[in-house]
Amino acid sequence: MTRVAILISGGGSNMAALLRDMVGDHPARPVLVASNDPSATGLALAAQAGVKAVGLDHRAYASRAAFEDDLARALHAASPDIVALAGFMRILSPAFVGQFAGKMLNIHPSLLPKYPGLHTHARALAAGDAQAGCTVHKVTADLDAGPILGQARVAIDAGETEASLAAKVLRCEHRLYPAVLRAFAAKDKSVIYL
Ligand code: GRF
Repeated sequence: MTRVAILISGGGSNMAALLRDMVGDHPARPVLVASNDPSATGLALAAQAGVKAVGLDHRAYASRAAFEDDLARALHAASPDIVALAGFMRILSPAFVGQFAGKMLNIHPSLLPKYPGLHTHARALAAGDAQAGCTVHKVTADLDAGPILGQARVAIDAGETEASLAAKVLRCEHRLYPAVLRAFAAKDKSVIYL
């Protein structure tokens, strides 16, 4: 059974979608949920689902490296085959990412390579784009730039606001991430488009 660790920073709605899907004939099971914020409500969701949940407050560490060392220690202890970043809002160093090379995934709320980084919905609206969406990619040392494993598109409607678009894209993420994780865990190399 493929072992999946999930990193979150807040509500964990993407984590919850992944947990809901990793049942039955799914080739993977969650083995750890960790957050950089001990108050992340997603940790309680994970615990309720019977998944080991760990909160490491990144603000309590003297350095980014010290936080990453503890996070890596918690991850290695769970022996994950896959590490899924799901609403994880910390930038991870190349040294950290390198410890999980090829097995770390992230979901980003834009149609990469458009709009890496933050404020993706505001940027799509400002650009007058007709479409927006989300992307699941492998995590590499370059932010939001790894090989794309899946994408899903949504229309930007007349009168769309940043809030309405964010909600639409988030629902789209909850469909895409489980589909991509299932394929990745099954060693299916096809790129998924929804
Ligand atoms: C959302 O903005 C989502 O688009 C991005 O991370 C944020 C929080 O997601 N992937 P979650 O509800 O914590 O999964």
